[in-house]
Amino acid sequence: MKLFDVYPLYDVEPVEAHDSIVVDKNGVEYLDLYGGHAVISVGHGHPHYIKRMKEQLDKIGFYSNAVHNSLQTDLANKLGQLSGYDNYQLFLCNSGAEANENALKLASFYTQKSRIISFHNGFHGRTSAAVAATDNAKINAPLNKQQDVTFLPLNDLDLLKTELSKGDVCAVIIEPIQGVGGLDEGTTFFFKELEKLCKENKVILILDEVQSGFGRTGKFFAHQYHGITPDIISIAKGMGNGFPIGGIMIAPHIEPSYGMLGTTFGGNHLACTAALAVLEVLEAEELIDNARLTGDYFVTKALEITGVQQVKGKGLMLGVEFDFEVAELRKKLIYDEHIFTGGAMNKKLLRILPPLTIGKTEIDQFIKALQTVLVPEKI
Ligand SMILES: Cc1ncc(COP(=O)(O)O)c(C=O)c1O
Repeated sequence: MKLFDVYPLYDVEPVEAHDSIVVDKNGVEYLDLYGGHAVISVGHGHPHYIKRMKEQLDKIGFYSNAVHNSLQTDLANKLGQLSGYDNYQLFLCNSGAEANENALKLASFYTQKSRIISFHNGFHGRTSAAVAATDNAKINAPLNKQQDVTFLPLNDLDLLKTELSKGDVCAVIIEPIQGVGGLDEGTTFFFKELEKLCKENKVILILDEVQSGFGRTGKFFAHQYHGITPDIISIAKGMGNGFPIGGIMIAPHIEPSYGMLGTTFGGNHLACTAALAVLEVLEAEELIDNARLTGDYFVTKALEITGVQQVKGKGLMLGVEFDFEVAELRKKLIYDEHIFTGGAMNKKLLRILPPLTIGKTEIDQFIKALQTVLVPEKI
């Protein structure tokens, strides 16, 4: 059987990885400023993470959600403590799309309504309602297009007020900083008004922190820069440092009932151990502070480079915008300078999503490489 060919691939095959270094099958080392798409949070192969996973595998790797699993409660407690959401409830699943799918479904159960408000350039995953709430017609099949979704521009409060006042909306779903879309974000005023309008209209506010959560932006959650408290927060990516796990954190006023949500694999022993190990390392190594400080250093250095128009984002969720499309630049960075970076829907944006462990040395290496590839021939 051959693989279903849905990914255009770079000609690199990683076979080993340590912290922010990925090694390919020919022994070539790459600096990982992409983190496997914002997934590697505490660094590849972190010793504490590996120890925890091996020990857990020796005990039990999986059992279903029909029996007690105290690793789930340990995870809920630790996550509540580190994120500041002690009083929320945790539902565990396996990916970012699944987290958003469950968030939207829960909002619909709670409000008994079905229209979703989402934003231009937003990305929320590839499953039914999550992909329908994603502003990309190309990845929506006719089946997905049956969902009732209205896309609004970021920061447009008048349009938001008009749509919410119609009384048929179950949820507003929004990324605090857009990832795939290209690092655009709402203002604090917009987020605060959005929170207020959702409350007034009894609409569930879902913050999609799948990419921006778990410390990546220099706070546990990026929405915490705006002083708002969403009804539901979706999480995944950095949560498991590569082990598939996602979840939704649910405000106390949304009450559960048996069978409302469910999953076979979600919250299994290995997945919970991965997420617990990530939280333990984030705390012990103060990686959230590191993300903020290293991100600030990155912005200062990147803005000194000729050709850089602006640097968007926060902490270590960043986008460097040029006045040309960056596809060729990314190739040069990989093949000539051995540095992984990311792209976005905004084709002029180079995305930087490294492990939260990186420091000035790695940033300096990147800046030097960028200067080298930019000088010879203004790509
Ligand atoms: C903000 C956001 N939400 C949801 C998703 C979907 O996550 P997954 O690919 O784990 O389903 C992504 C993935 O890039 C994302 O960036």
